[in-house]
Formats: sequence, structure tokens, C-alpha cells
Amino acid sequence: MSTQGGKTWGGRFTAGPDALVEAYTESISFDKRLYRHDIRGSQAHARMLSHVGLISPDESIALINALDAIGTQIDEGRMTWRRDLEDIHTHIEVALISQLGDTGRKLHTGRSRNDQVATAMKLWTRDTLDRVVVGITALQQAFVDSAAREQGVILPGYTHLQRAQPVLATHYFLAYVEKLERDRTRLLDARARLNLLPLGAGALAGSSLPLDRAFVARELGFDGVAANSLDISSDRDFLVEFVSALTLLAVHLGGWAEEWVLWATTEFGFLELSDAFCTGSSLMPQKKNPDVLELMRGRTARVAGSLQRLLMLLKGLPLAYNRDLQEDKEAVFDAADTVERSLEVAAPLVASSRLRSDRIKARLEEGFLDATTLLEHLVKHGMPMRTAHESVGKLVRLCEENRCRLAELAPERFNEVVPDLAPGVYEVLGVENALAAFRTEGSTGPTMVKAALAAWQARLLAR
Ligand code: ARG
Repeated sequence: MSTQGGKTWGGRFTAGPDALVEAYTESISFDKRLYRHDIRGSQAHARMLSHVGLISPDESIALINALDAIGTQIDEGRMTWRRDLEDIHTHIEVALISQLGDTGRKLHTGRSRNDQVATAMKLWTRDTLDRVVVGITALQQAFVDSAAREQGVILPGYTHLQRAQPVLATHYFLAYVEKLERDRTRLLDARARLNLLPLGAGALAGSSLPLDRAFVARELGFDGVAANSLDISSDRDFLVEFVSALTLLAVHLGGWAEEWVLWATTEFGFLELSDAFCTGSSLMPQKKNPDVLELMRGRTARVAGSLQRLLMLLKGLPLAYNRDLQEDKEAVFDAADTVERSLEVAAPLVASSRLRSDRIKARLEEGFLDATTLLEHLVKHGMPMRTAHESVGKLVRLCEENRCRLAELAPERFNEVVPDLAPGVYEVLGVENALAAFRTEGSTGPTMVKAALAAWQARLLAR
């Protein structure tokens, strides 16, 4: 097909590249996974070429069928990968030409690998993003199911990892559902911006041929065509947005994983992880280690690293296509693979874990989880907030001196600090009373939480 051993660009060269150069510049070792998306793009392009009369309908059909056959050949592992053929685009085109001869030589009409690879990456990203969104929903479902199952369980809520105020377990699980929902909608926002067709941008300036870009956009499910050929052929913003959203998702998963690693310790004892999601020690027979959660926490670094890699790759690139852009792929693939695998294991891990409500309950009255509710009780009775803060602080100090809880202080002690505070104070003290007192929208108040759970159950059912 060219003067230089099967390459698509040999005409202008008198010698082929050095073997070192072939090894240095190839991307086939990692971009072959784009083959389905490259073929889909090429088939839409072939249909369009015949639609505008640049090739005949018969040629278009021959190209489409041959591309299908090449897809099957790759599916079945029958494609020979050759470093000298650079990338997936060249492999497929060379295979097409060897099957169809001159008809095969027409496919690349009005196209450059620059707009071709941008199109394939967008199609791949769109499909992968859609799978991640489904994976997020599955994890949300697992959290919502736990929220429903653990209704009535009260947890100590923490700030600075110090006991703060009580929260319902249902409220706790739904907190992660909300974080995941932001991740999900962030991905969908990125998808909407991504969904414009690059093909037709050519190498950088467009084409003098009568291409119908809108036709190709419709064929490939894009919402329209990207506007500026110089911009599009070099645009990788969609990858940065995708990997940014994945990074934040990975950060959420990593924070949650860390929390559950802690909760599964003997010291916390809040959580029983199922054996199926833990591993043992080669030496210590008693060990049951939360390795899955630890790796999930650790892999946050991989995803964030990929984002950094992409940003540095794009920094300082002049218009338009530069070969640097070939380096986008491994970062994106690794980030997506990592997050997909994490989501896949997170959902059944959540579903198979159980709160150890007896252990949680046994120490629930420790740590003055009711102190802030007592403060608010004083405020309701007309005391300025700062004065109430001071008074409750004194009462807590008294308790610490006497090694007791607020609810165990004698009436005289309350009355010494706040005249007439006893006896009504006992109705608001204790973790259960404190929990029941919450009433703001979005709070852990039982009515609010019940409504939030019902709303999430309905939302997920509707997906
Ligand atoms: N393999 C390249 C990439 O991934 C696409 C080919 C564009 N190459 C070129 N020399 N214009 O970006």
C-alpha cells in the first residue's frame, strides 16, 4: 500500500524508521483496546462517504462488512499485532486494504488519524463512563439497602475522629449515597460536554471534500459536531474531566475504605466484614485483614496520579495535534480500570458487611454525644448561645471529674450551674433523647432520615 513496508504514510520517505524509533513511537501495545470504537467510527465514516457520493454504496457496504470481519478477527485473537504498524488505526486500515484492495484504500478519505483517534477516544470514554455510572448506582443501592437494614441503630458521629453527636446509621449510609450521586452527575455533566463529534476536523484544518459531519454525528450518537477543527483535533479536555470525576470518586471510595478499616478494628469493633472480602495472614492464624479496603484506599493514588499525568501532558501544548497526545491513553485506561474494579468489589462488600450494633450500643453513652443537644435545650429556654456553651462545658467538666455521664449528674449539680435546670433536663439527656431532638432539614432527625431513605429507595427503583 505504500513504499515503506505497509505503513500508511510511506510515500515521502526513502527509508523506513529505525527499529528503535518504531519501538519508541508505537502505541499498539496499549491502544488496541480501542478497536471496537475505531471500527464503529470507521463504519459511520464509510456510510457518510457513500451518502455524499465520495464512494459508491457498494463500496460502503464492502467496507462496513470487512470492518465487521476485522472486529471478529480481533475478538477471536486472530490479528497479528505489529510494532511497525504503529497503532490500532493503522492495523485496521492495513487489514482492510489487504482484504479489499482499492476499496480499502478509500476509507481514509477526508480523515486524519488525528480526528480519528479523538473520535475513538470519545466513543471509548462515553461507553466506559456509562458503565461507571451503572457501577455507581449499584454501590448506591448497596448503601441504601444497608441504610434500610440498619434502621434504628444509632452511631456516634465524629469530627476530628472524636465523638461529636449521635447519628442514625441510616443517615450515615445515605451520606455516601449523596457523595456518590455528585460523582454520578459530575460524570454525566462531563458526558454532555464530551458528546460532540471530532471527525471531519481532519488533521487540523478540516477538509475540502464535501463531508457531512452532521450525518456522522447522528450515526455515532453524538449531539452535534464540534465547532472548530483546530480546537477539536487537539482537545483532550473530555479526558481531563472524566479522570477528574473518577479521581473524586476514588477519593470518596478511599475515605470510606479508611473509615471501615478503622471500624473493623478490635478497638472500634463497629463492623463485621464478611470473610469473603477479607484475607488472612501467612503467619498469624487469627488474622482477618481488610485488604480489599486497604487496596481501595491505596488505589486512590493511582487514579489521582493519572489525573496529574494528563494535566502535565497537556500543559504547554501548542495547537493543534501533537504526538504527545498519544500519551493520554494509558493514564485514562488505568484510571478507568482501577475505578471500575473498585466499584465492582465495593458493592458486594457493603452488601455483605454488618454493623455490630450490640458493640456500638454498649459504648454509645460515652463521649458526651448529648452535650450539644443540652446546649440547644438551654437556648430554647432563652439562654444566649455562648452562655449555654459555657454552662454545658462546666457540666461536662464536672462529669469528667466524677467519671459519669451528663444524665447521671444529680439535680443539684445542674441547678448549681443553671438555676432551675433540673428536673426537665433529664428528658433531653442520653443519646436516644439527643438523637430524637434533631429536626432541621437534612439532619439526622428520625423523621427526616425516614423520608430521605424512602426518597432514595424510590429514586433508585426508578433508574
Ligand atoms: N496513535 C496516535 C495517537 O494516539 C494517533 C496517530 C496520530 N499520529 C500522527 N502522527 N499524526 O494520538
